[in-house]
Amino acid sequence: METKYKKVALSDLTELAQPAEAIKQGKLVAFPTETVYGLGANALDGDAVRSIFKAKGRPNDNPLIVHIADTSMLEPLVTEITPDTKKLIAAFWPGPLTLVLKKTLLVPDETTAGLDSVAVRMPDHPIALELIRKSGVPIAAPSANRSGRPSPTMAEHVAEDMHGRISWIVDGGSCKVGVESTVLDMSDGIPTILRPGGITPEMIEKVIGRVQLDRSLITGKSVEKPRSPGMKYTHYAPRGDVIVVSGEHIKVAQWINHSAEEDRKAGLKAVILSATEHLSHYPENTTLSYGSLSHPEEAATNIFRLFRQSDRNGAQKIYVEAIPKDGIGLAVMDRIEKAAAGRFIRLD
Ligand code: TXA
Ligand code: MG
Repeated sequence: METKYKKVALSDLTELAQPAEAIKQGKLVAFPTETVYGLGANALDGDAVRSIFKAKGRPNDNPLIVHIADTSMLEPLVTEITPDTKKLIAAFWPGPLTLVLKKTLLVPDETTAGLDSVAVRMPDHPIALELIRKSGVPIAAPSANRSGRPSPTMAEHVAEDMHGRISWIVDGGSCKVGVESTVLDMSDGIPTILRPGGITPEMIEKVIGRVQLDRSLITGKSVEKPRSPGMKYTHYAPRGDVIVVSGEHIKVAQWINHSAEEDRKAGLKAVILSATEHLSHYPENTTLSYGSLSHPEEAATNIFRLFRQSDRNGAQKIYVEAIPKDGIGLAVMDRIEKAAAGRFIRLD
């Protein structure tokens, strides 16, 4: 398949006419959002949605998020919008909060993987919003990576994974949040965070009071039948082995330096993802900085890009300094721990 590229400047959104036309015709279009790039298709067209799964190599029991451009697009998709849901919409949309709500018959089973709920969000990105408006339909979009790979935060990451598999890649530059949206289940019982993201538990609590973390996020173990089906798959992983190390930072640096030295002796290439504050603990040219510990949103913006860069550098071992699970740090550590698949060293 021929993949067409279009660089779109925020000052000229008329450039989106052709990609929007492609969505109308049931084709696949990758586009930027404030979190990560999405791989979009008409959410109401079961055949179009099926081709998303094919292009990504995504297991078909993993439902998609439906993206809308204004709240009037929500009503036909869901059976009920409760007062708490309304408060969340007023506080966080457009933005990185996905709400899981009971679906209507309008939403095809392909989009929700047969569930009776649908995940919906309004992205905070002018290109995403205009693409939805111009195509005139809600757009189902998972992250635009091949299944299991790190989510793309730049158009070139999408090209790496999707060139030749989709119709269009809309290049709108780098994504500012860098990790995927928070998924909050409002469909049943106590509001439950199924996936941590840009909107933190503290922020949600301020608006609706009680909110809980899904069991799988507390135990760190995958559960057999998770409420968010996507959470059971290996995720976000670069090709090299990710090893997360937590504890007092001098000890962490000593442990990583020792292990990386052993790797080098064994002929393996190692890279260290460290906080800017700790770069001086490591030999030159062994590190990539994910940002300052006092600004965990920098680690969110950078982490997936650094995973891909580690791959391009041919790293077989990727050591990552853990960050505190406060605020957006919870989402960053969720992604890092999933990429590490159990390789977690605790030094205190
Ligand atoms: O930031 C984002 O959310 C990005 C951008 C493109 O919007 N999208 C994204 O989609 O991360 P995806 O497909 O990579 O992740 C969707 C997550 C999965 O964990 C999936 O299981 C969950 O949302 N999900 C979707 N529908 C659901 C539902 N009805 N009930 C529970 N979980 C659902
Ligand atoms: Mg994804």
